[in-house]
Parts: sequence; structure tokens; C-alpha cells
Amino acid sequence: MRGKSVLLIIGGGIAAYKSLELIRRLKERGATVRAILTAAAAEFVTPLSVASLSGEKVYSDLFSLTDEAEMGHIQLSRSADLVVVAPATADLMAKLANGLANDLASTALLATDKAVLMAPAMNVRMWNHAATQRNFATLKRDGVLFVGPNDGEMACGEFGPGRMAEPNEIADAVERALSHAPGALSGFRALVTAGPTQEPLDPVRFIANRSSGKQGYAIADALARAGAETTLVSGPVEIAPPSGVKLLKVTTAREMLAACESALPADIAVMTAAVADWRPEISANNKIKKEPGAAAPAIRMVENPDILATLARHAQRPGLLVGFAAETDNVVAYAQAKLKKKGCDWIVANDVSPATGIMGGDRNTVHIVTAGGVEDWPDLDKREVGTRLAAKIAGALKGTAA
Ligand code: CTP
Repeated sequence: MRGKSVLLIIGGGIAAYKSLELIRRLKERGATVRAILTAAAAEFVTPLSVASLSGEKVYSDLFSLTDEAEMGHIQLSRSADLVVVAPATADLMAKLANGLANDLASTALLATDKAVLMAPAMNVRMWNHAATQRNFATLKRDGVLFVGPNDGEMACGEFGPGRMAEPNEIADAVERALSHAPGALSGFRALVTAGPTQEPLDPVRFIANRSSGKQGYAIADALARAGAETTLVSGPVEIAPPSGVKLLKVTTAREMLAACESALPADIAVMTAAVADWRPEISANNKIKKEPGAAAPAIRMVENPDILATLARHAQRPGLLVGFAAETDNVVAYAQAKLKKKGCDWIVANDVSPATGIMGGDRNTVHIVTAGGVEDWPDLDKREVGTRLAAKIAGALKGTAA
């Protein structure tokens, strides 16, 4: 987040005290934080504590001559890279959903040209109320991002959804929002492999696997959305290619390797493809026929090139090389071994035992294995895994020349 600036709108709720902690977390990660306090928020936290923690002037009055002379409210809403509302009260959500602008917070929300991330916090019944849910749906449709609310015991003694997300969770969401803000990866070239390969036995038969390509397509989509010039090398799958991505369709492992090499140089390579480790030694030119009385044919297999390992040793090795590990047991231990064996920088490990439903499904639970340790990610939609991975890649490449 270094060099990024966040406009934090603090709404009036008991969770406002957690926003003080949020300011510290954002500053630790290198962001500049300017805050707007609503009148109700000032009942829960003081402008002085917010100013002390942020190290910036705190704004609360729409009609302040001094503030308008120093920085107009329109400029305040646009000078930030992201607007964060925490706590986002039912009132602030309702105002933005309906376009009301009668104080500095709501005016800034309406005037901004930047993404808005809301961390709702309110009583369970207020959250579940049809009006709030309607506003929530409207805001999501309008492109507002959300983190939380979480389930748990509330300050009012009730239990359920309505607790504001924890400061670190909000800071993670801010990081993601900033990273897939257009441009986080612009100037970078990315290569993604996806789907299975098919290894022919004859013109009508082949050996393949159950890979759906969904995870790789989601990653290519996220990298492209973050601005990377993205090439997707894909085996045969049933899904539509993401927009803004250069698609190279291949069938066999050897074709996939050639397509990858043609896409170099690349700053980022994410190898999600389930490449067939072996192929039939001979692929018959004509369909193999059943001869009366003849024994079933034996298929001799030979090893396919390892695309990931080849790129790791390549003269044009991608700057950040990410492999996937599909395992059915000892997931993290095998992934750690694979990281060394293949010579890549990260391994995204997932458990593809049939019971997980990951292969072919829409969700994934992954572990990011690097030389520095293991990050366990929660169960997520594959698109969300893509978005988070793109954000993590953007974070890792920050500082390197684009
Ligand atoms: N991979 C590759 N080329 C191959 C085999 C695998 O590029 N011929 C890549 C995959 O895209 C993935 C990583 O290597 O990023 C791990 O693949 P996986 O099949 O899980 O590992 P293997 O090397 O095949 O090892 P094993 O089958 O023993 O688990």
C-alpha cells in the first residue's frame, strides 16, 4: 500500500473504536489515511484521537470555510485512491444507496470518482431489515465493495450478523481493492496455463484428466483486470475466455510448452494447468481397430516435458513463477517439496480429493507455499482466489520496474 492514500469515513456506531485500530493497521502497511467523521461518529471517537493516529487533519463539517479554502470536499473525495467506510452504519448505507448528500460524509461518497469499500456494523435486526438488505443489494449492484459484517455477539447483547469486520480483515480488503484498482499490474506481462491436456492414442481417442480450467481462467481474468497484458494458454475446456486476455488454445503438453515459450518474456507466470505427466509413446495415424481374437493393446507411455520446470530453468525465466500442486494427501508437505523440485517461487497447493469437490467445482481452499512459509486461505469462490492471488502478485511486484 506504500504511496497509496485512503479516505476513511467513520460512521456513528460503537464499532467506531475499531476504526482507530484500522488507521494504525493501514499506516503500518504504508498507506496515508485522511478521515471524515460524521457528527454521530464524533460521539464515539474524538477528532483528536483520529488526528493523532492518522497524523492528518480530520474533516467533519461540510460548510467549514477553513476546510473548503484548504481542500474542497470534492477534492477531498477524489485525492484518495480508495474510499473506505468503517463502520458503515445503516444510515450511511441508506444515504449512498439513495443518493442523499446532506453532510460531508454522504457528499464525499456521492462526489468521489474512486472505488468505495464499506465495512457494515449494526444491530442484527437492523442488518436483516428489508430496507438495509435492499440498500445492500443496490450498493453491490452499483459496484460498492464490502467486507463483513461478521457473525458474533454484538455490543447490544444480540447475536448474529452485524459485527464489523476486524481491522486486519478490513486492511486486507483495502489491500485487495487497491491492488485490483485498475493499473495495479499495468505494464506487466502475465502468462497463465489452464485446463487439462489431451494426449492422443489415435485420431479419436485420448488420455486426459478432470481439470475444468475454472481456476486458471479466473486467475487470468483477475490479472487482466489488474492491468497485466495477459496470455492464457489453455487446454480443451468448456468455458468462455475472459475478456481482454490473449487466448492460445492447445491440446497436448508439448503444444502447451511451445505456446508458453512463444509468450515469453513474461514478468508473471501462473501455471494452473493439469498437464498430463505422460503421453502414449505412439499416436496412431488411423483409428486403432479391434481385430478378432487379438489381445487388448498395451499402451506404452513416455514422459511429457515439465512446463513449469522448463520455464524455471529458461533463459527468459518469468520474474515471478507460480506453480500449482494438486494433491490428495499431505498437501502442504508435498507442495513444499514441489517448490524445491520445480524451482518456482510460489506453489498454490490444493486438495483435489474427490470429497472436496474442488476439481470441476466453483470453490477452492488453497495454501500459498513460499520459501518464507505457508499462508492458509479460507474456502473461497475460485474467482475470489483469482482476485486475491492477483493482489498478492501485485504486492510482490511492487517496487520492481514495470
Ligand atoms: N506441470 C507442468 N508440466 C507438467 C506437469 C506439471 O507445467 N508436465 C505444472 C502444473 O501446471 C503445476 C505443477 O507443475 O503448476 C504441479 O503439477 P502436479 O501435476 O501437481 O505435479 P507433478 O510434477 O505432476 O508431480 P506429482 O504428479 O508427482 O504430484
